[in-house]
Amino acid sequence: MHIHDAQFLIGATKSEHFPQSTTLPEVAFIGRSNVGKSSLINSIVRRKNLAHVSATPGKTQQINFFGINQQWILVDCPGFGYAKVSQTERAAWKSLMHQYLHERKQLHLVCHLIDSRHDPSHLDMGMIEEMEMASRRYVLILTKKDKISVSAVIERKEQLAEATQYCAGCVDILPYSSVTNDTRDNLWAIIKRECAL
Ligand code: GTP
Ligand code: MG
Repeated sequence: MHIHDAQFLIGATKSEHFPQSTTLPEVAFIGRSNVGKSSLINSIVRRKNLAHVSATPGKTQQINFFGINQQWILVDCPGFGYAKVSQTERAAWKSLMHQYLHERKQLHLVCHLIDSRHDPSHLDMGMIEEMEMASRRYVLILTKKDKISVSAVIERKEQLAEATQYCAGCVDILPYSSVTNDTRDNLWAIIKRECAL
């Protein structure tokens, strides 16, 4: 996939900020704080610093929209589950994400990132349930696969496949590493398939 144009469009803290003048298909990246959402976006568009990556969790506080090749919009969402976030911030996150996930018409695919090293948390399972309720199509991406063995990745994938066997919206489960990038083309194939208009 050749990326000739990748640019930051807007960071939304309210639904009024979501881009209104476009009907391009959107792909959103969601998941626990620090799971690797911003790194994954940089990996698939082959840019080092388009989305902001940080060793400190809870860095992405707003929904960031990026225009790609005047063809897609990739959406970097704020992470959930970061312990040091206040009740007020947590409520604001919930409300903003709910509006985005349930109401955004041009949202074609959600990439839900889960750390391949750990069992999915109750927050991960809750997010799968929320996407099912919103009738979304989503791919589970098992991140940081470079940190564990190939057999452990296969085991994690099987665990998630079993957990989602009755989930209508789960279109695929893809292990990923933003260090080796070896499944980048697989993810683009899923995005293209799901965004075909
Ligand atoms: P928030 O915006 O805080 O929710 O985090 P995020 O989900 O955007 O995570 P981010 O991409 O900022 O990555 C968090 C940390 O994990 C950084 O130190 C990254 O370098 C590291 N990281 C992300 N993806 C990978 C990966 O595939 N492999 C390895 N080894 N490290 C990764
Ligand atoms: Mg981030």
